[in-house]
Amino acid sequence: MSSISGKTRVCGIIGDPIEHTMSPVMHNAAFRELGIDYVYLPFHVRQEELGKAVDGVRALNIRGLNVTIPHKVAIIPFLDKLDPLAKKIGAINTIVHEEGVLTGYNTDATGFLQALLEQGVKPEGKTVVILGAGGASRAISFILAERDANLVILNRGLGRAEDLAHRIARVFGKEVKARQLSEGNLAKVLVRADILVNTTSVGMSPDIDETPVPARLLNPSLVVFDIVYNPIQTRLLKEAEAAGAQTINGLEMLAWQGALAFEKWTGQKAPLDLMKREAIKALGHEN
Ligand code: ATR
Repeated sequence: MSSISGKTRVCGIIGDPIEHTMSPVMHNAAFRELGIDYVYLPFHVRQEELGKAVDGVRALNIRGLNVTIPHKVAIIPFLDKLDPLAKKIGAINTIVHEEGVLTGYNTDATGFLQALLEQGVKPEGKTVVILGAGGASRAISFILAERDANLVILNRGLGRAEDLAHRIARVFGKEVKARQLSEGNLAKVLVRADILVNTTSVGMSPDIDETPVPARLLNPSLVVFDIVYNPIQTRLLKEAEAAGAQTINGLEMLAWQGALAFEKWTGQKAPLDLMKREAIKALGHEN
């Protein structure tokens, strides 16, 4: 950090593990770029210390936190307020601390949506096939349902897809389909899909030769969004591009969720492109 003073405000990220997070480089570069007196630190917090960590946010007057795996759901009972969307999702990734009051937000959801909108893709009325039914899928599925998309959730474990589909159906009063993630089901649903989102870890480093969707099932009328950002160009995205589909990589969502958190803590517009560049640089060092 260039100069930490008595006035420096502290933000950070809590998770377990935390060493591979891209967030400190993105946020510290953004603070420097805007010349604002903030610093962003990684904190390794274990599940059993979560309550104490939240007490620490209050006691140390930390301005804000990002929250990552495995704490995005478990942290909620320790907060004072929840943004309405975060409440529906039941998971948060951002905390804003305002004079002792901690409010939880989900900028994974809003960041995903902004990344989509920035590429000119509007989810309203579209049929979206979502691969995976874990934490990331939950945030993405809820915001897409809120934006009136028609959802088909495919997951390796069918039960998890069904649970998520039921939760969304209950909150939004609309039907959500759940299917097992199999080649046969992919073939059936992808012919009628507008958007395909991969929220599974299939294709993530080091397993970069894997893909959740056989290339022959991809077509030029699809928008394919892979939220995996390491590597930036996954096998799925390469094959989607070759099939003539529009593609969006996981770095877009990563940068947007960071930018939206940054704006809540600082009240200033985040330098999104710089945050993307810094994340790309840091990923280069990882590999
Ligand atoms: P995240 O918070 O990143 O969503 P998660 O909650 O652990 O992480 O969810 C991981 C998702 O990737 C799940 O949908 C998981 O499928 P299961 O529910 O069947 O476990 C999916 N996933 C992980 N490895 C996979 C694999 N090899 N093939 C298919 N799906 C996989």
